[in-house]
Amino acid sequence: MSTKKPVRVGLVGAGFMGRCHANAFRTVGGLFDLSVEPVRAVLADVTEDAANRNAAALGFERGVGDWHALCADPSIDLVAITAPNVLHEPIALAALAAGKDVYCEKPLSTTVQSALRMTEAAEKAGAVTMVGFNYLRNPMVRLARDIIRAGEIGEIVAFRGRHAENYMVSPDAPHNFRTDPQGGGALADIGSHIIAMARFLVGPLRSVSAHGETVHKTRPIAPGSAERKPVVTDDITNAILAFDNGATGVLEASWVAVGRTMDLSWEITGSKGAILFTQERMNELMVYMPGAKAGRDGFQRIESGPAHPPFGNFCPAPGHHLGFNDLKVIEVADLLSAVATRGRCSPDFREASEVQRTIEAMQASSRERAWVEVEAVG
Ligand SMILES: NC(=O)c1ccc[n+]([C@@H]2O[C@H](COP(=O)([O-])OP(=O)(O)OC[C@H]3O[C@@H](n4cnc5c(N)ncnc54)[C@H](O)[C@@H]3O)[C@@H](O)[C@H]2O)c1
Repeated sequence: MSTKKPVRVGLVGAGFMGRCHANAFRTVGGLFDLSVEPVRAVLADVTEDAANRNAAALGFERGVGDWHALCADPSIDLVAITAPNVLHEPIALAALAAGKDVYCEKPLSTTVQSALRMTEAAEKAGAVTMVGFNYLRNPMVRLARDIIRAGEIGEIVAFRGRHAENYMVSPDAPHNFRTDPQGGGALADIGSHIIAMARFLVGPLRSVSAHGETVHKTRPIAPGSAERKPVVTDDITNAILAFDNGATGVLEASWVAVGRTMDLSWEITGSKGAILFTQERMNELMVYMPGAKAGRDGFQRIESGPAHPPFGNFCPAPGHHLGFNDLKVIEVADLLSAVATRGRCSPDFREASEVQRTIEAMQASSRERAWVEVEAVG
């Protein structure tokens, strides 16, 4: 029987991300030495039936068919939101009003105004917040940031980033919350990850020039339906970036990238060296360092291992590799540490609002066919 202080978790949604969160809350205590113990308490889903079924499958004490009841439940300490984007704000505001900490999936919300309302409510309540940009938890991404911060590749000159996947390639892939005019589109759905990465590694963006394109102009209204309706969100967005610190860059978000399953990739060019990464080979970092003899220079492949914390929490042997779900476990460990100490997570709601601001600056740029200052949005 654990003597650690329990943190009772209420999870809203039990799809792809709900299962991933449940796995992280289940396993984190065995991998990280935390001063608190997460308890999978209540799971909310669209119906009472679905909630009870998923609660049983994912190890929660009980299910509820209405997230309002979960947020109002005085026994819950932390609300984790893995429901469609349009629900993030109402669920977070209800949870914050009831005194809970909030862990929300990305993108934080559907608009920057909505994201800022969530941020202000969280800051007023003194709540701990975390947003699920899990790719930032990769020890190899942390290593890249350490290399950059130590000046090992010199001044950062350029960033080239991409998040490309193929799950909307088919024109018959139906509408879902990801094509919702309120906060949908490839840029918000996966572009948000590469924007968060650019901010994490290089810094905030000052201005952007972007072009968004809808490749498939209509999609079925539901799986298997013959009825189609127009798509108003982007399938691909390309952007040129100007960072606050003077670095320049380009970025692509696409969910119609044939053959690509998880190309969250980037290249950072410094004045002396460079770093390459793709999530499809998430246990490797390619680093070009200055100083090699003529004819011996080139990119060096660094493979993940216990020298790259917190890899060693999972495995003592280098080269044995972490996976996608492990990133969520690391994120949850960081979240629970902040809950225990009443510290601050990164990215919290405030930082995730800045990602949202950048998304909207790109959308405005595409609409207006002009460069847009990121800070002017919202
Ligand atoms: N961090 C990541 O890598 C990552 C990956 C995928 C999705 N996401 C984010 O996670 C969120 C969910 O995406 P997903 O892929 O898990 O979607 P999903 O469709 O697989 O799951 C959504 C879940 O929410 C539930 N739901 C819908 N309406 C609800 C309501 N009114 N009350 C309670 N539950 C409700 C659904 O029944 C389902 O269980 C989105 O915000 C998405 O952007 C993040």
